[in-house]
Amino acid sequence: MLKRIKEFFKKSRKPVTSKNVKFSYTDEEILKDINLKTRKKKIYAIVGKSGSGKSTFLKLIAGVISKKHEGKIRIYGKRRLFSKSSFGFVSQEPGFIPDLNIKNNIKISGLNYAISQDMALERAKDLMKQMKLNIDLEKKPPSLSGGQKTRLGIILSLLHDPDIIIMDEPFVGLDFKNRRLLWHFIKNKRKKGKTVILTSHLLTEIQRHVDKIIILKEGKIFFKGKPEKLKNKLNIEYIYEVRFSWLAQDKWDKLKEYCEKKNIDIIEKYGKHCMFSLQSEKDKEKLDKKFDEIGLKDNMINYREPNLDEIFLKT
Ligand SMILES: Nc1ncnc2c1ncn2[C@@H]1O[C@H](COP(=O)(O)OP(=O)(O)O)[C@@H](O)[C@H]1O
Ligand SMILES: [Mg+2]
Repeated sequence: MLKRIKEFFKKSRKPVTSKNVKFSYTDEEILKDINLKTRKKKIYAIVGKSGSGKSTFLKLIAGVISKKHEGKIRIYGKRRLFSKSSFGFVSQEPGFIPDLNIKNNIKISGLNYAISQDMALERAKDLMKQMKLNIDLEKKPPSLSGGQKTRLGIILSLLHDPDIIIMDEPFVGLDFKNRRLLWHFIKNKRKKGKTVILTSHLLTEIQRHVDKIIILKEGKIFFKGKPEKLKNKLNIEYIYEVRFSWLAQDKWDKLKEYCEKKNIDIIEKYGKHCMFSLQSEKDKEKLDKKFDEIGLKDNMINYREPNLDEIFLKT
């Protein structure tokens, strides 16, 4: 009994857990076996190519897909049904009512979370200040700019001050200044003890801000861990970019064969432009020697540490 009580409390401390979650809209399985445990006061980023199932996973957590999934999703150890107030879901398409002014949109969103109209307005104004959103509440949402709409969408989803914030691609369409502002906002929420789960396709940007990255690939978790661990997992230390002055097929074949043998990955090739991933500095010396041997003339474009988006090309 004691063991079960302990287990219950242990589980209930985890904001979101997903165990063996499988899901398909039709015949094709979109999510294959998703296991995730989150902790309080952390920012998680789910990353993956378009169509990899990021939005689907967030929607399942938020309970906005009516079709059933296999496996378990729990919010503080409970089914979503009992924990609606503990999370806020910022979807990619903000659900404004275009014919109502912003003030009434705020009031109606408040109603969804059983918040009084005054309270909803007060919270919205506070959130607007945090997000530096100066807009006229008498205007209608369609008159706002893209960045303003995104921020208003976030505000409307967080009026109930939830502990868990789930955001689907919140950075899309935001310029540099607004992205920085949103990161600042998100990190501030973390400081206040909130858990944030967001999706993004900008690996390079998120690596500097999040605690954990989850990479989805073909419906499975390809990587889960701290950003700095990703490079290790993929075995890339350096990126070497060259442009050959001429690249005949037979020479290219020889080079490919050599790279395969030496476990050097060719991440990209556009015409005479090639990008290699190297595991050590020695690899570069060897590769340069091989270019000479085969008779390839090359101009080095870049030799540096990789950014995560390049690593991503490999996945
Ligand atoms: N409502 C839906 N009905 C059928 N298939 C869908 C639906 N929504 C998304 N899909 C499919 O599920 C896959 C994953 O989509 P999604 O979760 O939106 O990926 P991501 O957010 O990573 O781009 C895609 O192949 C997409 O076409
Ligand atoms: Mg998506």
